[in-house]
Amino acid sequence: MSDVVTLSVSDRIATVTINSPPVNAADHPVRLGLQKAFTGLAGRTDFDAVVVLCAGRTFMAGADIGEFDTGIAAPHHQDLFNLVESCAKPVVAALHGTALGAGTELAIACHYRVADKGARIGLPELTLGIIPGAGGSQRMPRLIGLDAAADLILSSKPLPAAKALELGLVDEIADGDVAAAALALARKLAAEGAGPRRTRDMAVKDGGKAAEIIAARRAQVAKTMRNRTSPVKLLEALAGSASLSFEEGLKLESDISKQLEQATEARALRHLFFADREVRKIPGIGPDLKARPIRKVGIIGAGTMGGGIAMCFANIGTPVTIVDTAQANLDRGLGVIRKNYERSVSRGSMTAEQLEQRVGLIGASLDYASLSDVDLVIEAVFEKMELKKEIFAKLDAVLPAGAILGTNTSTLDIDEIAKVTKRPADVIGLHFFSPANVMPLLEIVQAAKTAPDVLLTALDMAKAIKKTGVVSKVCYGFIGNRMMDPYGREAEHMVLEGATPEQVDGALEEFGMAMGILAVYDMAGIEVGHNTRLANPHMVPDDAGFYRCSTILTERGWLGQKSGRGYYRYDSPDRKRASDPEVIAIMHEEGKRLGISPRAPSKQEIQERCLYSMINEGAKLLQEGIALRASDIDVVYTAGYGYPRYRGGPMFYADTVGLKVIYDRILEFKKTLDPQYWTPAPLLEELALKGSTFAAWDAGNRK
Ligand code: COA
Repeated sequence: MSDVVTLSVSDRIATVTINSPPVNAADHPVRLGLQKAFTGLAGRTDFDAVVVLCAGRTFMAGADIGEFDTGIAAPHHQDLFNLVESCAKPVVAALHGTALGAGTELAIACHYRVADKGARIGLPELTLGIIPGAGGSQRMPRLIGLDAAADLILSSKPLPAAKALELGLVDEIADGDVAAAALALARKLAAEGAGPRRTRDMAVKDGGKAAEIIAARRAQVAKTMRNRTSPVKLLEALAGSASLSFEEGLKLESDISKQLEQATEARALRHLFFADREVRKIPGIGPDLKARPIRKVGIIGAGTMGGGIAMCFANIGTPVTIVDTAQANLDRGLGVIRKNYERSVSRGSMTAEQLEQRVGLIGASLDYASLSDVDLVIEAVFEKMELKKEIFAKLDAVLPAGAILGTNTSTLDIDEIAKVTKRPADVIGLHFFSPANVMPLLEIVQAAKTAPDVLLTALDMAKAIKKTGVVSKVCYGFIGNRMMDPYGREAEHMVLEGATPEQVDGALEEFGMAMGILAVYDMAGIEVGHNTRLANPHMVPDDAGFYRCSTILTERGWLGQKSGRGYYRYDSPDRKRASDPEVIAIMHEEGKRLGISPRAPSKQEIQERCLYSMINEGAKLLQEGIALRASDIDVVYTAGYGYPRYRGGPMFYADTVGLKVIYDRILEFKKTLDPQYWTPAPLLEELALKGSTFAAWDAGNRK
C-alpha cells in the first residue's frame, strides 16, 4: 500500500485514509494510492461498506494545482472517481475542513457524505480558469439540481455544512467526531445490507427546465464575468448533464477541460494562486525566526483610514485603541465605524451581538499614554512628514520595548520617519488601501533598518486580518502607486490629445480593469493625487501636460463624485457617470493651448500606452530591488488595483504579450510621444532582446 493512502478492514468495514499534508491534494501519489485501494477492494468480499476519510487539517482540497503545468499522469481524476463510484458496497465520505474541487468531486463520487459541523464544501475551479473536470459538472447537477449546481460553481464559494445538508449535498452533519459518524453510518448501511447509491444513476431534478436555467446563467456570465471563457464552457458542460448520458457528459467535460487547462486564462489564474502564497517567502526570513505576538493594537488618527484599520483588528477579536487630537474626531470616527458595522448587520452578514462585541473592542483616547501596553501602533494621519515625525517621537517615548511602529504612509520616506525614534529596527510601513476594512491588499514596506522579525510579524498580521501582504522596499509610491503614476499619466494625457474620458476608461474596462482610471480618480477625489504632486515637486517632471487635467479639475473644484462632477457628471438620480461635454471641450482646448498634437488614440493605443508604461515601470522596480519578484507585482495589482485576475497581473500579462513586442512598441512610442517617458527599462530591454520573460527572471532569482 502507498504511504499516502492506506486501506484497512475491521469488523467488515473498510477504511480508506488519505494522508498527504498539507491539504491532501489529489496529486499523483494520492491518485495511485486511491486506485490501488479501490482496485484492491474490488477483488475482496470481506467488507460490507467503505469509509473514505482524510487525515490532518482537511478533506482533499482539490487537484494538485501545480500538476496542470506539467501534465496530468494516469490515473486521471475522472477515471479514478468512476472507480470509487463503481464500488459494489456503499461508500461513505467523511468531510472536514475544506472539501474543494477534486475533493468535492471525490465526495460526490462516494455514495454517502457525512460532514463535520465546520466543514465547507465547494467547487472553486473557475477561480483557476477551469471547470470541475473529475465528474463534478455531471454529478453535481444530479445530486443537487442544475440551478443549484450552477450557483455553487459560478460563485466559486464553498458552502457551509448546514447549507450543504439543506441542498442534499451531504446526508448528515456529525454531532461530534466526523470519522466516527461516518463509521456509524457505514455500519448502519452494512447492517441493512444496503447496496451502492451512485450519483451517476440519479436524474437531474430540474433537468426539464435546463434550457431556461442555462439561458439565465449565460446572461449572468455575460454581465458579470467579462472576457472569461471558463464560465461559458462550464455552462456548456452543465447543460450536458441534463441532455446527455452520464458517459457522454463525462466525455464533454473532459474535452472542455483539456481545452481550458492550458489556455492563458487558466495559466494566469494558476500563476496567481502560487504568487499569492509566494509573497510570504522573503529572503532572510527562515523557519526559525519567530514573529512577535500582537495582542493589543494602537491606531493614530480616527479618520476613514484609521477607522477602517481599527475594524480589521476588531474583526479578529484584537483590542484596539484609537488616539486622536480632538474628542470630536474620535466621536466622529467611532460613529462611522458603528455605521459600517450596522450596514453589515442589516445585510445579514453580522449579528447585532457581534456588532456590540466588535465595537466594544475599539477604545478611544486623547492621550498617547494609553498606548503604553500595545504591541503594535499604526499611524494613519495626513501625509505630512513633519506631523508623522512628531507622532513617531511621541510614540517612541511611550511605547513598551519590542512594540512595532507602523506608518500607513503611501508616499513618504519611512527611513526618515524611523530616524526620529531610538528604535528604527521596529519601524515598518503598513500601507492599507481604502476602505481599509474591505480592500484585501496590504503593502508592507521594509525600511532600511526594519528588523526581520518585525517584517515577519507584519506578514503574519496581514494573514491574520485576512489581507494579502506584499513586501516592498522604500521608494516614492512603493510598488502600487509608483506603477500607477505612468498609467494615469498616459490616461490623462490622451484626454488632452483628443480622446474622451469614456473612450479612455472604456478601453481600460474592456481590457478588464474593474474601473477606468479616470472614473477611479472621480471616486477617490481628484485633488488627492494633485495634492500629492504639490507636496512632492521634486517628483514632477518638466512637462506642462503632466497630470494637467487633474490640475484643471482641482482648480475648478470639480473633484469628482463628491462634487457631482469631475471627469464625468454625476447628477442623474442613480448617480451613474455621464459624459460631460464641457469638461471634454476644456481639456481638448487645453491640449491645443499646450501645443500637444491631436491624436485621437485608438482603443488599442489607449490600452498599450497605459498598460505598457506600467509594465516598464514594473521592470524598473525589479531592477532597483523595490519589488522582490515580478509575481509580487502581479499580486499587488490584482489584490489592490482592480487588475483582472484572469490576465495574471501586469507582469504575467507582459509575458503573454511577449516582452519583445512590448519593447518594440515602447520604442515606437518614443518616436512620436514624449521620449522622457518612453525609454525601455534596462531590465525590460535585456529580457526582451534575449527572448526571455519575467517568469524566467523570477525563476532565476529563486535558485
Ligand atoms: N494544489 C497544490 N498545492 C496546494 C493546493 C492544491 N490544490 N492547495 C493548497 N496547496 C498548497 C499551497 O500552495 C501552500 O503551499 P506552500 O505552503 O508551499 O505555500 C499549502 O498548500 C497550504 O495552502 P494555504 O493556502 O497556504 O493554506 P490555507 O490553510 O490558508 O488554505 C485551502 C487551505 C485548501 C483553503 C487553500 O489552500 C485553497 O483554497 N486551495 C486551493 C483549493 C482549490 O482551488 N482547489 C481546486 C483545485 S482544482
